[in-house]
This record gives sequence, C-alpha cells and structure tokens, in this order.
Amino acid sequence: MINEEPGELFSHPDRNLAMELVRATEAAAIRATPWIGRGDKNAADKAAVDAMRKFLSTVNFQGLVVIGEGEKDDAPMLFNGELVGTGQGPQVDIAVDPIDGTSLTAAGRSHAISMIAVAERGSMLDASSVFYMEKMVASEEGIGVLDIDRPLAENIAALARAKGKPIDEIRVAVLDRPRHEDLIQQIRDAGAGTRLIFDGDVAAGINAARHDSRIDMAVGVGGSPEGVATACAIKALGGFMQGRLAPQTDDERQRGKDAGLQFDHVYGLDDLVRSDNTFFVATGVTDGELVRGVRRQGGLISTESIALRSRSGTMRRVSADHQAAKWLDE
Ligand code: FBP
Repeated sequence: MINEEPGELFSHPDRNLAMELVRATEAAAIRATPWIGRGDKNAADKAAVDAMRKFLSTVNFQGLVVIGEGEKDDAPMLFNGELVGTGQGPQVDIAVDPIDGTSLTAAGRSHAISMIAVAERGSMLDASSVFYMEKMVASEEGIGVLDIDRPLAENIAALARAKGKPIDEIRVAVLDRPRHEDLIQQIRDAGAGTRLIFDGDVAAGINAARHDSRIDMAVGVGGSPEGVATACAIKALGGFMQGRLAPQTDDERQRGKDAGLQFDHVYGLDDLVRSDNTFFVATGVTDGELVRGVRRQGGLISTESIALRSRSGTMRRVSADHQAAKWLDE
C-alpha cells in the first residue's frame, strides 16, 4: 500500500469511480465512431480525446495524467502532467488512452477500445521517456510459473502444464510487427499458435488474463504506457504480468537513462503499479473479443464497457443505450 493514510480512495463513494470513468470512455468511443473506417486516425483520436477530457472534468477526483498517449506519433493527447477531474475527492494517478487502436479505427478493423486506468497517486511507473516495453501477460496460472527471462518455448510449455492444456491449444497474442519475426517463429516452433494482432495490445493482454478468452498469453514489445495501463487491469483480474523497457533508438535509451530507468530490470506487476487499489475501464470502439463496438440503431447508440476494480477483484460488463439525439447537437 502506498499511502500511510488510506485516504478517500478507500471510502465507499469511490467504489463508484469506475462507473463514473465509464462515462468518459463511452463518450470517447461514441465520438470516435463517425471516424471508423475513414482513414484519418488523428481525427478519430482527437474526437475521442476531446470527449474524454470533457467527461473527465465532471468526475469527482483529482486525477494527474501520469500516462497520456500520443507522444509516440505526435497524435492529439491528454498530456502527461495534465490535471483532470473536478479537483475534489481522491488524488490519483491516471493513465488514459482515448483510443487504443487509432489505426484499427481509421481502417475499420476490430479490437479498438477507449480506456482509462486509475491508481493511487504516485503508484504508477513513470516510463514516459521510453515508449516501448517488452511484456508477458497471462492468467493467474502463470504466477510463479512464467518468467520473461526464460526462453519463450519453456514459458509456453510451463503455462500449458499449469493450465492442463496441450501445447498446441495454447494461443499467444503478439503484435504483427517486423520486430517480432523471431518471436513469432519461436511461438510456432514451440508448438503453440499465434494470434497476430494489428494493434491494441491492452485488450490482448486483458484477454490473456481472462479465463473465457481464446488467448492464453500475450507477449512482445508494445507501448510502455499501454503496459502500465494493462497492469492496472491485470491487478483486478489476479493475473500474471512482467515487463521490461525496450528502447528502440539511441535517443530513447538516453532519455530513459536520464530519467533513471533500468533497461535490464524485469518489472513485475507491483513495479508497474505499486498500488493494490486500481481501477480500469474500457469501452469498445469497434467490435472485439473483449468488448463489442459502438452500435447505432434508430434513435439509440449502444455501447459495451468493462469496469474492473482490484480491491474487489470484480470485472463488470456495462451495456448502455444512449439517446442518439442528445449526442447530435452537443
Ligand atoms: P495507439 O492506437 O494508441 O497508437 O496504440 C496502438 C498500439 O498498437 C498499442 O496497443 C501498442 O502498445 C502500440 O501501438 C505498439 O506500438 P507500434 O505501433 O509502434 O508497434
């Protein structure tokens, strides 16, 4: 636990924090919808960022954006250090990604989500100087069994044993990137199958930790902001996660060094987010295995979201119908 004084985040009203945050991810997802398949990822991202910022300003908390998103490719963003919320209520760190999967959205592909993660102030790893992180995520069966330092084939075999599954039924999600060519080969050589994803490794990580998904493990190098946000969700799911910073350029390596980050260090779940009081919410932008995308039918806009809270270990699914007319003239 981070604070000696537990503070307001532990009191009852904050059980509702996740539900409040869901309004912000719903808004971001709804506003991004007109941009699905339109080939303009910055316009989609901007619509989602603006909507999320507006809704966050009504949430009763003092949120410090520790992990904003967008620096990687100069996209519009909720920037690091920005204060969000009403300025009342608990002081928290917040990680936002108004759209994880901007390219998916622009292309009209599946699996784009809008997400927010929250934890006690000062508890999220500030890896903002290094954009990339190598990650390994799985369900609770991976705890004490998996180790990012071991060869991947050994990890796959160990997870298969722990889950009581044959190796050829193990599915490993990995971003389809040239940098993963070797990793993809290792997965297949180990006898497991890949789930190659175009983008969106937060949803893939969460799916790897859930029992009712077809993904058993998520590995590879993705965004470090997404890594810390994923950790907030994995805490609530009771799963396994490790990360290691993976700077891709000399510049990035230097910035990380200057910020005092370690590149050989294996960050466990408690290093990525030190708090045991985390919230994670996400709403589907386009259809995915985790959540359904936004739908418009007649006068209604329907959204599907998840709300996770580590203290209770709950994952709620929130379906909402919104009056489309109310969203037209705002
Ligand atoms: P954005 O849509 O927010 O840009 O992120 C998409 C994403 O696929 C993340 O899920 C992932 O962590 C990261 O980008 C991977 O980075 P890159 O596309 O540079 O490989």
